[in-house]
Amino acid sequence: MLDDMLDYTEHVRSRPVWQPIPDSVRAHFRSEMPCAPGALADVYDEFSRFVVPYATGNVHPGFMGWVHGGGTVTGMLAEMLAAGLNANLGGRDHIPIEVERQITEWARQMFGFPAGASGLFVTGTSMANLIAVLVARTAALGRKVRRAGLKRGGAKLRAYTSAAAHGCIAQAMDLVGLGIDALRLVPVDASQRIDVAALQDAITADRAAGLTPFLVVGSAGTVDVGAIDDLQAVGALCRNEELWFHVDGAYGALAVLSPELAPRVAGIQDADSIAFDFHKWAQVPYDAGFILVRDGEQHRDTFASPAAYLRRETRGLAAGTYWPCDYGPDLSRGFRALKTWFTLKTYGTDLLGAVMARTCALARYLEERVLSDPRLELVAPAQLNIVCFRYRADDSNAINATIVADLHESGIAAPSTTIINGQLTIRAAFVNHRTQPCDVDALVESVLRFGAAHDAVHRRNSESVTVRDTGSKTKRKLPPQYIPGNLQTSVEPVIAA
Ligand SMILES: Cc1ncc(COP(=O)(O)O)c(C=O)c1O
Repeated sequence: MLDDMLDYTEHVRSRPVWQPIPDSVRAHFRSEMPCAPGALADVYDEFSRFVVPYATGNVHPGFMGWVHGGGTVTGMLAEMLAAGLNANLGGRDHIPIEVERQITEWARQMFGFPAGASGLFVTGTSMANLIAVLVARTAALGRKVRRAGLKRGGAKLRAYTSAAAHGCIAQAMDLVGLGIDALRLVPVDASQRIDVAALQDAITADRAAGLTPFLVVGSAGTVDVGAIDDLQAVGALCRNEELWFHVDGAYGALAVLSPELAPRVAGIQDADSIAFDFHKWAQVPYDAGFILVRDGEQHRDTFASPAAYLRRETRGLAAGTYWPCDYGPDLSRGFRALKTWFTLKTYGTDLLGAVMARTCALARYLEERVLSDPRLELVAPAQLNIVCFRYRADDSNAINATIVADLHESGIAAPSTTIINGQLTIRAAFVNHRTQPCDVDALVESVLRFGAAHDAVHRRNSESVTVRDTGSKTKRKLPPQYIPGNLQTSVEPVIAA
């Protein structure tokens, strides 16, 4: 199994990124519950034939959809070791908990948080954001809210984030019981960054109306285009207004590891809490979300609950003062920290930072290719590692959606789509360390090929032939730094090994 999986990773480029699932394969997973034992070899054979070929595809260098990390063999081996130990990291006195505390300490150092900060592995940033909203709520209303519930004071709480923020923040407001309407979506500027003056106005207006602002969520890398809010300005505003400053840095927060990118997230060190994923830009296999809280006491106050069966002893396995179950809703927890520990120690933070910078270089390369071809239109430039573009066509929304589905089914590349200013666009997010300039070329060439094919069909079918506005017709030459061979590719062999 191990040999096969190493081969799979080594040769993943020769496979389709993704392929449609035949009904017969899907039907395989509607079978009877196995009451009697089966042979491991047979089960593995089923896995090889029916699971492996139909996985998400994010290990593949052509995967550019949503924000998915590529994982590494190092992380895979660590997962195997963690499963072997089968440690439960809810609490008690064992070294796996110290490994998680080690990652918390490293995260604290990465973001320049003070001693006393706390951290916790969770599934992903959706859960990390939920924890942040809960901690901010407890900080605003006091510990009594945990017994008494929200009541009247809670009904007045208001939170703020940008209109470009991820939907899980609204969902967190819902889950916490504050309600989605208690989250103000502040307008964004042309680059999709929160309009700080509008944020200030919204807070002032709410205070005047007798409401209680308590939380601002800044974004370090928005999901659509990778925009980073002016975290210094948002942090200063939060200090003036005495509001909890949380940063959703699902993938962008770890830009602190790249000297080239770190200035972009300046101000993140002033946050009260940061949510981010090691499973995105840091390439740790799924799942490895993380919440870091500046004041560990406030974090603990939100979750710690006395229970006889969780009594802390002074000796034996039930000893230990730091129990992670005091910092989140989970009691039973897996050993996510191990694959992160292996990843950080094997590659080092400098190399991981270089991988992040390189994905941004790939995005700039795609941007240049789009700008240099009059058949394509740039919808959102590469602010970080994401580019949104379209194939120019009369029925552009429909054609671009079809192009993306064609790309997926061809197995060549897997970008995703999003809607920007009412336009459906192709969205390529470079996260995987295996992606090369040739994968960008394959994406562009396939978009053009599928687009031209749909154009031809569309024209044949349309009764009146319209003249398309193809915008700038000048073919721009790629600057030398974007010629594929000139991209910084030196990190690839190290991390893909
Ligand atoms: C900005 C942002 N926030 C939150 C999330 C949710 O993170 P997760 O999928 O790890 O729950 C994402 C996912 O891509 C994201 O990009």
